[in-house]
Amino acid sequence: MAFSPSKTVLLWASVISAAMLPPLVHAETGAEAWLRYAALDPKAAKNYERFPTKTVLLGDSPVLKTAQQELLRGVSAMSGRPLSAGAGSPTENAIVLGTFTEVRALAPALNPPQQLKADGYWLKSAKVRGFECLLVTAATDRGVLYGVFALLSKIARGESIAAIDEVQLPYAPIRWVNQWDNLDGQIERGYGGRSIFFADGKVRSDLTRAGEYARLLASIGINGCTVNNVNAAPGILEDSFIAQLSRIADEFRPWGVQLSLSVDLSSPKIIGGLDTFDPLDSRVAEWWRKKADAIYKQIPDFGGFVVKADSEGRLGPSAYGRTHADAANVIARALKPHGGVVFYRAFVYNHHLDWREMKNDRAKAAYDNFHSLDGAFDDNAIVQIKNGPIDFQVREPVSPLFAGLRRTNEAIELQITQEYTGQQRHLCFLVPMWKEALDFDMHVETDQLKDMPTGTSPTTVKDLVAGRSFHRATGGFVGVANVGMDANWLGSPLAMANLYGFGRLAWDPNLSAETIIEEWTRLTFGSDPLVVQTLTRMQLNSWPVYESYTGPLGAGTLTNILGNHYDPGPESSEENGWGQWHRADHAGIGLDRTVVTGTGFIGQYPAAVQKLYESVADCPDNLLLFFHHVPYKHVLHTGKTVIQHIYDSHYDGADRARDFVAQWRVLQGHIDDERYRDVLARLQYQAGEAAVWRDAICGWIYRLSGIADEKKRVEGDLTPMHTSKK
Ligand code: GCU
Repeated sequence: MAFSPSKTVLLWASVISAAMLPPLVHAETGAEAWLRYAALDPKAAKNYERFPTKTVLLGDSPVLKTAQQELLRGVSAMSGRPLSAGAGSPTENAIVLGTFTEVRALAPALNPPQQLKADGYWLKSAKVRGFECLLVTAATDRGVLYGVFALLSKIARGESIAAIDEVQLPYAPIRWVNQWDNLDGQIERGYGGRSIFFADGKVRSDLTRAGEYARLLASIGINGCTVNNVNAAPGILEDSFIAQLSRIADEFRPWGVQLSLSVDLSSPKIIGGLDTFDPLDSRVAEWWRKKADAIYKQIPDFGGFVVKADSEGRLGPSAYGRTHADAANVIARALKPHGGVVFYRAFVYNHHLDWREMKNDRAKAAYDNFHSLDGAFDDNAIVQIKNGPIDFQVREPVSPLFAGLRRTNEAIELQITQEYTGQQRHLCFLVPMWKEALDFDMHVETDQLKDMPTGTSPTTVKDLVAGRSFHRATGGFVGVANVGMDANWLGSPLAMANLYGFGRLAWDPNLSAETIIEEWTRLTFGSDPLVVQTLTRMQLNSWPVYESYTGPLGAGTLTNILGNHYDPGPESSEENGWGQWHRADHAGIGLDRTVVTGTGFIGQYPAAVQKLYESVADCPDNLLLFFHHVPYKHVLHTGKTVIQHIYDSHYDGADRARDFVAQWRVLQGHIDDERYRDVLARLQYQAGEAAVWRDAICGWIYRLSGIADEKKRVEGDLTPMHTSKK
């Protein structure tokens, strides 16, 4: 769907974009995303001149067959030379696809440099039965498929694969996406069109897009997809619906993607005919057991359930005085015999907090609710924790709960759909933000590790969630994706870098943001150096730019939190039960979360992290207002006052957003015209929106503080808002 700016203030943008030059490169919709398999230029094609023209498949499972088909499709499209499909032992130079057990039977002397585990793969150039072969092998069929995608990505980016010998192992077993799709076809916080799974209360009759989505997910190593909203409709578990859902699982299966479902904890009562959903009632346990059995009968590779309970109006175990562990375990036990897992979301908080009570703090909720339950969750239960303690804001510290659970499986929940970061209408590449969270060291004290097995790895967030720090049974990464029916999936061609980046980080969180965005750009737009340089620079700058014209210094996005989560609305996030965000008044701004004088939130972190944040003097500027309430004239580490920083940051951010337009324009004729125009219109719109944000926030803070901008850009009547709240 073409992008259409909604703001009349920005009509000038569309007028300018209408006067574009004619296309030089053929148009693309973005539907292929990073799997375009564009024809190689003659120089790159030379690298593959001696590439085998035959593939040999060892085995016949659906996933292996998919792997072979994908290889044929990709190589033929890129090289222009068809590959042939064969099976059995090679009789000429060939690409051999199969699990290591099968490959070993042909070439017993072969040994991978590292043990092949889980979904990891080995790409190896080797002689098999006297023929020059390229092996794509793995412990599992799914690993072979991942190996094929990795090989195709290398070819598409012109990497040499001569004498290749590369093992890749995923960092964690859980690499899932969640879709917040409603059964009527709408998607909660979705900006790329209607659901690809549901329409009018039913599973869509045409699930072509679901299969295509699974292919995209598999290509970046994602192995599970929860298809419905965490605010789950109980009807999803009706027997008649399960038969429909099995059709989605059929689309996913050839790509090794497991289907899973969000479920409502009160389902045994709402649709099960019981008079209770008490997790400790044996009838309830029996209900979940039977439900799981029925699902596995129809979907044998079903992944499991996601649960949102006691949160934002959802019913939960508190109704019966039970714990979240009780609730998670009753479901976990039903799934256990089938190998399924339950993700229990830690996004539990009271949205009726008394805002006048200064110790109340929504940020404390996840830790307060789950820390004391550490060790009480079954081994196939995973606590799913949002990256920050609030809710996907443009800048948050990491959730202290990551360090607060040591005997419990964890997964980090990241948001790919840009709910609070511009809703795909603003450019905001989130991988640098996610990297900061994943690389953050929680400094769990060694004395607290002493009862842990030796060889405990560091307690960075990525190691904690992957289950490495505390040797957990499972764990990993969940991304809220929310793709839709729009041809380009997320509504904006450049936003797809976030889906790609999520998958790549879930596979290997040690990859740099630069590596990821360069890969994505080459695959999505080709390897023209001008395109690669321009786009990688724009993407890497986009999060800091968005932050600077929305909510700098850790103040949150200052967005309208009671409505669309998009427009500026700093007053909406104060004086209501949804949580206090910035406590701005005439004298200062920021939320005091210190142990000594504030809400005490900082006390939830391990000691070394507390030390980093507790004193105003040490606290990093970019989180200052998240942790401290300071006067507007407080001087930052940069030497600037807080108020002047806010003014400067908004002006600078809006200027830089406008500059994206000029940067993009140099790409005209270097990429296809359709995507060029679509992105240009978005960037022009963003430039206007950034100015709206700048003026709204600067005007608001000026009226509130009464302190003038040194550079005299912000002016207006001071009287109406210049009052104190306290
Ligand atoms: C956010 C979002 C909701 C969503 C919730 C959740 O608050 O705005 O739409 O339901 O997160 O993660 O459960």
